[in-house]
Amino acid sequence: MAKATFRIWRGDAKGGRFEDYTTEVVPGMVVLDAIHEIQATQANDLAVRWNCKAGKCGSCSAEINGLPRLMCMTRLSQLSLDKPVTVEPMRSFPLIKDLATDLSWNFRLKGSIKPFKPRPPDAPDGTWRMDQADVDRVQEFRKCIECFLCQDVCHVLRDHQLFDEFIGPRFLVHAASLEMHPLDIEDRREELRKAQGIGYCNITKCCTKVCPEEIKITDNAIIPLKERVVDQFYDPLARLLRVFRGNRSG
Ligand code: SF4
Ligand code: SF4
Ligand code: FES
Repeated sequence: MAKATFRIWRGDAKGGRFEDYTTEVVPGMVVLDAIHEIQATQANDLAVRWNCKAGKCGSCSAEINGLPRLMCMTRLSQLSLDKPVTVEPMRSFPLIKDLATDLSWNFRLKGSIKPFKPRPPDAPDGTWRMDQADVDRVQEFRKCIECFLCQDVCHVLRDHQLFDEFIGPRFLVHAASLEMHPLDIEDRREELRKAQGIGYCNITKCCTKVCPEEIKITDNAIIPLKERVVDQFYDPLARLLRVFRGNRSG
């Protein structure tokens, strides 16, 4: 039976180090299987989050050989096992223990985004009518599993630590799912520009590259949102109309 070595980050907020664990591997295994095997036989106190083992709960996010990925969706056959496979926690978030990070900033942030606000029903039976094309457009954003790999890789958060000024790609996707919803009448553009810092995104597309749901975060969510914000605040005609209406803000 083949063996492979996993170089796993062990530690907590005070500090830590990589430790090597060698375990048997069989065809079809994913990184999470190996972590579970190591946890069961060699490191009972290894902290790791997981839930579905099917790429749907978004719990098992980690950095594998330096790349943000889901452990349950990364097959060992995709990796070179000639040298140790490094497995470390997402580096953009505070470490709790080993592979588990504190993601509470994300959940607090989500609560600050204006919720869905539907227009009044427009059919006699009290329901709404929508174009299928408009429904299809936001459907992509609903695939998000909140793995936060896109937040982890975004340089505005990871390198510049602008957690108080930028909501990150996951929540720009969330804002897009609401802003572009055919029934929604809320206006989130002012917040997107100011408190939520959409201008910090320089559309490098690193977030799109790591999304396990293959959501085209930059092209389909962030760029259309940026266009809406620019239209509202910088479009000369829109600005003139606001002036005529007595609204000189922005
Ligand atoms: S495209 Fe924008 S949100 Fe995505 S990683 Fe780059 S800066 Fe961050
Ligand atoms: S947008 Fe993609 S990468 Fe970001 S949290 Fe959702 S599923 Fe994960
Ligand atoms: S365990 Fe649910 S996404 Fe990996």
